[in-house]
Amino acid sequence: MHPLLQQEELVAYADEHDLTLVAYSPLAQGAVFDLPELREVAEKHTVSPAQVCLAWLSTKGVVPIPKASSEAHVRDNFAATDLELDDEDVARIDAIDREKRLEDEEFVDW
Ligand SMILES: NC(=O)c1ccc[n+]([C@@H]2O[C@H](COP(=O)([O-])OP(=O)(O)OC[C@H]3O[C@@H](n4cnc5c(N)ncnc54)[C@H](OP(=O)(O)O)[C@@H]3O)[C@@H](O)[C@H]2O)c1
Repeated sequence: MHPLLQQEELVAYADEHDLTLVAYSPLAQGAVFDLPELREVAEKHTVSPAQVCLAWLSTKGVVPIPKASSEAHVRDNFAATDLELDDEDVARIDAIDREKRLEDEEFVDW
């Protein structure tokens, strides 16, 4: 799950059944960084698009497990836990209607 694969039905099911979702590839392996919506929210809060992406997932009650191979990226991602997006930010990202699925659709059912 990430802003290009918003999984509304799965999130609603998890909410209803008191389940916690984990987002694999929560940064869409970098594909979200160029989204204008994320960049603009990132500029507004003076943070990175990665932080906005991870904070947006947290507003959905989803736990992201980003992969990062440098200390700078690990620190950047951890700092997302301090970022509070407002309703306007969340709505901006919710409204992204382009879809990019990274995992093989024949392999996964969700
Ligand atoms: N069990 C499964 O079936 C399964 C399936 C998919 C994924 N996963 C796991 O989920 C995790 C996600 O892996 P993923 O690689 O697919 O996708 P991802 O976390 O969506 O993206 C990782 C990419 O984002 C970059 N990145 C990370 N933090 C950044 C930051 N703050 N600023 C800029 N770039 C940043 C990384 O670069 P750098 O490497 O240069 O930091 C890397 O290129 C991994 O732990 C993976 O093992 C598990």
